[in-house]
Parts: sequence; structure tokens; C-alpha cells
Amino acid sequence: MSHDSHAEVEDRAVFRSMMEGTAEDWAIISRDYNAFASTLADRVLTHLRLLDGDFGGFPVDRLTHSLQCATRAHRDGRGETYVIMALLHDIGDTLGTYNHPEVAAAIVKPFVTEEEHWICQNHGAFQGYYYFHFLGMDRNMRDRFRDDPHYAACAEFCEKYDQSAFDPDYDTLPLSFFEPMLRRVMAKPLKRQPTSAVAA
Ligand SMILES: [Fe+2]
Ligand SMILES: [Fe+2]
Repeated sequence: MSHDSHAEVEDRAVFRSMMEGTAEDWAIISRDYNAFASTLADRVLTHLRLLDGDFGGFPVDRLTHSLQCATRAHRDGRGETYVIMALLHDIGDTLGTYNHPEVAAAIVKPFVTEEEHWICQNHGAFQGYYYFHFLGMDRNMRDRFRDDPHYAACAEFCEKYDQSAFDPDYDTLPLSFFEPMLRRVMAKPLKRQPTSAVAA
């Protein structure tokens, strides 16, 4: 066996189905998974940048809206996990055009508090308070969550940071300001996620 082919064998698991898997296979996969997980923030930043120049008819593009939402939350004294949730709350727009809050919520879930995750997941209905009535919809759709303990927090997020983040003249902080914060928040999940041991 040549050195090269030996290295190749060492680099990848050899099973053809998981039923044949061995501890050696999974040591290789775990090592690669840990390296892959360490660059999650880079992939999130790349995806967030897809919102750059995407106006969708709004006064600011979706990246500026996201940055302004995060800037307002940061200047209001919110903690880092909250600010990162604000930064990423609309990151699902590109792939989750019909359910963007759920896409964003799934991305931030390992790294934010339960309440911050809830805000991200449900902000669409609460944001609707400010425009659903212009589209023939019920602006009070958020009332279905009236009895939820996170209702007030989500209403506050939309009022203070989300519905107010469409001002082209606001002094919005650049993405570079939030990058170190994003890397800190995404460096390690708050708790182990049961469905993502090695993302097999
Ligand atoms: Fe949204
Ligand atoms: Fe938004």
C-alpha cells in the first residue's frame, strides 16, 4: 500500500452502511465534524451576506435591516445572544421564503436562551401587527400567543428593534462590528443538541 492510499484510508470511514460502522470510523467522522463545526460562524456570515442588496421593495436592503435591528438591540443594552438573534432573525428569508422565522430560529437555537429562540421563531406573527391589515390580514394574529410567557418579550422585540429597523439614515453598525460577537456566541452550543451529535 502506498503512503498516499494509506492516508486516504485514514481520512475517511470505510463503512458502506452504518450497520458496518466501527469506533475507528466514528473517530474519523467526529474529528472532521468538530473541525466543520468550528467554522459555522463563517458559513452563517456568508449566508447573511446574501441579504446584501436584497431590498424586496423595502426602504433598506435585508442586510441593512438585520444590522440595524442588531444595532438597536445592542445600543439598548441587550446581551450578546439577544443581539445575535436580532442579527440573524431574518437570515431565513432566502431559503425559507414562506417560513423565514422558523429557519432563523433553527439556526440560532443551540446558542441562545429559550426565550430568545421563541422570539426568533414567532417574530413573524408579531411583526404583522404593523402591516398585516394593509394586506387584508388580521394584524392581531399575535394574540393567539397572548397566554404564552414570551408574548411580551416578542412584542417588545418587534416594537423596539424589528419594525423600527428600516431607516436608511440611522447610524447602523457594519457587519464587521458584529463578527467577533457572532464568533463568540457560535463558538459553543449552550447545551448539547440531541439531534446533532455528529450530523450524520
Ligand atoms: Fe422577519
Ligand atoms: Fe425583520
